[in-house]
Amino acid sequence: MNTLLTPKVATLLNKLHQEAADQMPLIRAVMKKMRSGKTAPQEMPSNWAERMSDFHLPVSREQGCFLYQTVRATKAQYVVEFGTSFGVSAIYIAAALHDNQNGRLVSAELIESKAIKAKSNILSIGLSEYVEIRIGDALETLKEPDKPIDILYLDGGPGLYLSVLKLLQPHLREGALVIADNVPTMDDDKNPYARYVRNPANGYLSSSIEMKGGTEYSLWTGV
Ligand SMILES: C[S@@+](CC[C@H](N)C(=O)[O-])C[C@H]1O[C@@H](n2cnc3c(N)ncnc32)[C@H](O)[C@@H]1O
Repeated sequence: MNTLLTPKVATLLNKLHQEAADQMPLIRAVMKKMRSGKTAPQEMPSNWAERMSDFHLPVSREQGCFLYQTVRATKAQYVVEFGTSFGVSAIYIAAALHDNQNGRLVSAELIESKAIKAKSNILSIGLSEYVEIRIGDALETLKEPDKPIDILYLDGGPGLYLSVLKLLQPHLREGALVIADNVPTMDDDKNPYARYVRNPANGYLSSSIEMKGGTEYSLWTGV
């Protein structure tokens, strides 16, 4: 079974990926303005999410398939996501939960209009029962997970990754995966998240995958 291949899911993903691709020239212009004089992702202005509220900024198809594969292969029951946007990564994850015949995704989105759009996208393909979207700052809305987390997916503002990880670390089951988008492959002193998960003393076995802007794939081994 592969729900990603069903016409309704494939059609919606095609549409959303195309919309995102069409937005790229405008996004590049807005990003350039916001990043002028800044070098690291955590140096983005604090209101970047509001300024990007019309843009998808989704996972690539490759990243989406990677999430689908990981959720299916691990039979994850409880997945938590930081950064829903219009729901592209959530669709890949929800499809995998559906095909596993079990599980739930809790996904946090700061911008209400984006969360509403994501909900409607997921409803339109019949996968709502697998997804709960929490509106507001992830540091508030993800505070109390209702069970041990199998997979944590970080795709909100990179500057908050370490705070979100530390908030949820007590709730990771041993052997949980933490997957983070936009973590540069090379060692980067300006990236506290990369430094933290790449230090085995903090309880992670971490690998850097060259996918899009760099994907950090970390196994929680416990301390
Ligand atoms: C890169 S986009 C997520 C893309 C999404 N995972 C997808 O594949 O379609 C990042 C999202 O994180 C949201 N975000 C930023 N800061 C946040 C916060 N503190 N809490 C919750 N969401 C936040 C932004 O509004 C934005 O929609």
